[in-house]
Amino acid sequence: MGAARTVLKTKVGIVGGGPAGLMLSHLLAGAGIESIVVEKRDYETIRTTHRAGILEHGSVKMLTDGGVSNRVLTDGHRHEGIDLRFGGISHRIDFQDLVGESVWLYPQNEVFVDLAAARARDGGDVRWAVSGTEVLDLTTDTPKIRFTDAEGAGFEIHCDILVGADGSQGVCRRAIPAEQRRENFIEYPFAWFGILTEAPPSAPELVYANSDRGFALISQRNDTIQRMYFQADPTENPDDWTEEQIWEELQLRVDGPDGFELKRGPIFEKTLLKFRSYVCEPLRYGGLFLAGDAGHTVPPTGAKGLNLALADVQVLFEAIESFHATSEKDLLDGYSDQALARVWRAQNFSYWMTSMLHTRADAGPFERKRALGELTGVVASRHGSAYLAEGYTGWPS
Ligand code: PHB
Repeated sequence: MGAARTVLKTKVGIVGGGPAGLMLSHLLAGAGIESIVVEKRDYETIRTTHRAGILEHGSVKMLTDGGVSNRVLTDGHRHEGIDLRFGGISHRIDFQDLVGESVWLYPQNEVFVDLAAARARDGGDVRWAVSGTEVLDLTTDTPKIRFTDAEGAGFEIHCDILVGADGSQGVCRRAIPAEQRRENFIEYPFAWFGILTEAPPSAPELVYANSDRGFALISQRNDTIQRMYFQADPTENPDDWTEEQIWEELQLRVDGPDGFELKRGPIFEKTLLKFRSYVCEPLRYGGLFLAGDAGHTVPPTGAKGLNLALADVQVLFEAIESFHATSEKDLLDGYSDQALARVWRAQNFSYWMTSMLHTRADAGPFERKRALGELTGVVASRHGSAYLAEGYTGWPS
């Protein structure tokens, strides 16, 4: 027999205190709907986990108009385009000109810090560093979350709606019986070798570079820290690479007649990111609703992961709010289909950007020239460029 568990009652029980779980809890609080968030990691671990850094305008709006924080506008950087670089030449995709929108460079860690601060400011109930999380009674009117808190005390949350925002490794998705969910996924034959370096930006905007040696992305964090990636074999070990070798490889992938030169500095983090596309269907089982990475994963090439999670949360929030106000379940019943429509659109966008920009190890001359033909088609056509700009800056909901 385990020790007695304290029972907590709330309207919405949320597993996962990343941006999706915290944003949902924030929106619900604004509508007078109480929630409790449980998260297995501690605050510091999440704050220091590096993820992508690009926010669509819709995500920025959720943070600013939603009363989370305006820090994205003061500390983030608005980017009105990106460079697609191939054959050693940069081609600017001008988002403002093409679709009248921008994106913001604002690292996911900062989004997390803002959301956690907003929850603390508004008296939100967020429990960090919990263990042994389980979800149960999912097909009843009172789904439950069991967990042990950081001090070792046992709890059971009884809620009306349970939200799984616990990422791709979380317990929620796995709590759906295998015969009730379809797992759609593909793996890619490459990974990203990512670095953080203390250096000034090498270019005003992000550079997505295709070369015979493979893809490279020259991204940024702020005026003094930069984020860069290059396509690598999924079995590569970052520890085998010296700083000199990394800079040489990155430089070779952006070399061109314009003499574009990366600004180098000390490298203080090296990671290998594996690529996967995954969608769980449906994003619901009884009273359990999946949001963000708990339900789907995209490869990082279009920076869609966080943005997609926030888009799920917007749809789910409206459905929960409507259920709370009217006891009608129609919007909740429609959540999965509505969220999945955007998810699949983003899956395609990320897949397209990934396959267009990366170079397969076995690519022969035909494949290389075809790939350059595709890239030329995108940059030479206003329609092609606008398609990219729409997807990158984010489709209307
Ligand atoms: C990043 O800065 O980490 C980043 C930016 C754009 C991407 C992916 C990652 O498409």
